[in-house]
Amino acid sequence: MRMLVTGGAGFIGSNFVRWIFERGGTSFGDHRIVVLDALTYAGNLANLDGLDGNYDYRFIRGDIRDGELVKQLFAEEKIDTVVNFAAESHVDRSIMDPLAFVRTNVEGTQVLLNTARDAGVERYLQISTDEVYGSLGPTGRFTESSPLKPSSAYSASKTGADLLVLAGFHTHGMNTMVSRCSNNYGPYQFPEKLIPLFITNAMTDKPLPLYGDGKNVRSWLHVDDHSHAIMLILQGGRAGEVYNIGGAPESEKENVDVTHAILKLLGKPESLIKPVDDRLGHDRRYAVDYTKIKNELGWQPEVTFDDGLASTVRWYQENESWWKQIKSGEYESFYQAYYGDRLRA
Ligand code: NAD
Ligand code: DAU
Repeated sequence: MRMLVTGGAGFIGSNFVRWIFERGGTSFGDHRIVVLDALTYAGNLANLDGLDGNYDYRFIRGDIRDGELVKQLFAEEKIDTVVNFAAESHVDRSIMDPLAFVRTNVEGTQVLLNTARDAGVERYLQISTDEVYGSLGPTGRFTESSPLKPSSAYSASKTGADLLVLAGFHTHGMNTMVSRCSNNYGPYQFPEKLIPLFITNAMTDKPLPLYGDGKNVRSWLHVDDHSHAIMLILQGGRAGEVYNIGGAPESEKENVDVTHAILKLLGKPESLIKPVDDRLGHDRRYAVDYTKIKNELGWQPEVTFDDGLASTVRWYQENESWWKQIKSGEYESFYQAYYGDRLRA
C-alpha cells in the first residue's frame, strides 16, 4: 500500500509506522508510508527516530486542514490508502479548549475526505474511539450498534468525524471505514495520559493525581495489538463498516488498580497517590465487545495487561530523556493550569 498516515508523529501513529516496518512488514507486504503531522504539542519527531533513510518512508510537517498540501501529496506520492490518526486526543484539554477539537477532529477529517474523494483514493480508515458510545454502568460492553452518546467535547468531535466518514461511503460510495478502540498504552505515549503520567510522576516522586474515587474503569489495549488490528482492517475490512477494537476482559481495570500496579513495578510508596477533584463529566466505565473483528478478520488482543504494563514501565525507565524533554515548557504550563489547584486542595 502507499499510505498517508496522518498524525503519525503522535503516540499511536508512530507506533503503527514502526510496527509496519519493524514487525508487521514481512507478513503484511511492502508499503510506502508518508507521514503528515502538524507537530502540535503532542507530535514529536523523536517518536520516528531511525526511520528516515532506512525505510520506504517520508515525513511532511503540515496540517490535515490544508487541502492544497494534502492534494499535492496524494498526487506526488500516488497515495492509495489514508489512515487518519491526526486529532486533538486528550479529554482534559477538551474541557479547557473545545474549539481546537472541532477544528482538527471535525473540519480536518472532512478536508481529508474531500481530498481523498477527488483523488480517487482506494481506502480510508478513520481511527476513532470507544468514547463515542458514552459511559457504561457496571455491566455490558459496547458493540458496533450501541447508541452514540458522547459526553465530552473530545468524544463529541470524534463522533461527528465518524459520521462524516460514514457519509462518505453512503453519499459518494467511498471505501471508508471506522475503527473504534479502547484506551491504548505502550511506549512513546505523551505523559498527559494516565499510564505515562503516573509512571513518570512516580519515577520523580511527584504525586499521582487520581480523579474522584479512582474506580472508573478503562479497557486497556496494548498499542501493538491495536496496530495489528488496523493492518487487518486495511487489508480485509469492508467499506462503510465500523470495527470495535478492545482490550481483553482481563484488561478492564479500575484506575486505582492500574495505579497500584505502576507503583509496585517501580517500587514506589502508595503515599504518592493523591486523590483529587474528579474530571468534569467523567465517563464511569468503558468496555468493548470485539467479536466482529474477531469473527471477520481473526483479530484478538495478544499482549496481557501484566506483561504490557511491565514492558511499558521499563520503556519509560530506559527512555528518561524522551519524556524529560517533553515535561518542560508548554507541558509545565498545562500541568499547572489543570492540576495546580487540584493538587494544592
Ligand atoms: P496523540 O495526541 O499522541 O497524537 C496526535 C497526533 O496528531 C500528533 O502527532 C499531532 O501533532 C497530530 N495532529 C494534531 N492535529 C493535527 C492537524 N490538524 N494536522 C496534522 N496533524 C495533527 O494521539 P494518539 O493517542 O496517538 O491518538 C491517535 C488517534 O487515536 C486519535 O485520533 C485519537 O482520537 C485516537 N484514539 C486514541 C486512543 C488512546 O488511548 N490514545 C484511544 C482511542 C482512539
Ligand atoms: O477510550 C479511548 C480514549 O482513551 C481515547 O479516545 C482518548 O484519546 C484517550 O485519551 C483515552 O481517554 P481517557 O480519558 O480514558 O484517558 P486518560 O488517560 O486521560 O484517563 C484514563 C482514566 O484515568 C480516566 O478514567 C481518567 C483517569 N485519570 C486520568 C488522568 C490524566 C486520573 O485519574 N488522573 C489523571 O491525571
